[in-house]
Amino acid sequence: MTTASPTPIAQLRNVSKIFDPDGAALVALNQVSLDIAPARLTAVMGPSGSGKSTLMHILAGLDRPSSGTVRIGEREITALHEDELTALRRRRIGFVFQAFNLVPTLTVRENIVLPFELDDRRPNADERAWISSIIKRLGLDGRLKHRPSEISGGQQQRTAIARALATRPDILFADEPTGNLDGRSGREVMAIMSEAVRELGQSIVLVTHDPIVAAYADRVVFIADGTPVSELNDSISAEVIAQTMLDLDAKAEAAENAAAGTPQHPVRSPQYAAETGGRR
Ligand SMILES: Nc1ncnc2c1ncn2[C@@H]1O[C@H](COP(=O)(O)OP(=O)(O)OP(=O)(O)O)[C@@H](O)[C@H]1O
Ligand SMILES: [Mg+2]
Repeated sequence: MTTASPTPIAQLRNVSKIFDPDGAALVALNQVSLDIAPARLTAVMGPSGSGKSTLMHILAGLDRPSSGTVRIGEREITALHEDELTALRRRRIGFVFQAFNLVPTLTVRENIVLPFELDDRRPNADERAWISSIIKRLGLDGRLKHRPSEISGGQQQRTAIARALATRPDILFADEPTGNLDGRSGREVMAIMSEAVRELGQSIVLVTHDPIVAAYADRVVFIADGTPVSELNDSISAEVIAQTMLDLDAKAEAAENAAAGTPQHPVRSPQYAAETGGRR
């Protein structure tokens, strides 16, 4: 794209995250700088363990980086105190967790409106209409009085998505929001997310392993070993995404084999390398 880029809704600068559970330092994110444009659907893809969830948690202020800065809009969230950060998360950020994190003692409806409850307010008429429309679109109307243990995994996931969209946050982060859904429900979730982006200017960042889901995005960022390695922009096809993922997986496998001292396979197909980072 050659057009001037708008002010990012989220921004990482030289962000590293090092986990050190028992003295064995593990670099989950390595000097990541990334701008997320507003009113766009951004997908993050990469091999398992490449740092996608860590990246999302840090972007959303759920975890702090070991070094580097994170901004949401104009606010540098890495400089905020815990209570300021909690308020900002509540009002401006939505999150769908890889494990949905529903409150087991609340019903589906109570879970969906929980963000309003936590912010000590009730949804206004406009918000109530929006919430009803997402409940209907996500096929949850018949399940509103059930508790999470009484509904399927897919319905739990859709409840978590409804909860995250309910307040129309400035930015929504979703970690594999279609991971537990059948094809039709997955398409419905992506249709709602795309609609929220196009019609409401919602900014969304989602992690997915599914090239068909990622093909809904305006931009796909690929990460490997804790750092962005390539990206695709605009009219992105599932085929090109799948090829880029295969290439990353082959590289990750080759690196693992090299580390383990086993002989390396040749890269599976040279054409994948040519596709990496290719724009259409
Ligand atoms: N709390 C933690 N303590 C120690 N190591 C962690 C912690 N959280 C994540 N890691 C490690 O950091 C790396 C990145 O993890 P992360 O969960 O971000 O990967 P991911 O890309 O989301 O993987 P997946 O696709 O399997 O969900 C992994 O090696 C993981 O084991
Ligand atoms: Mg993850």
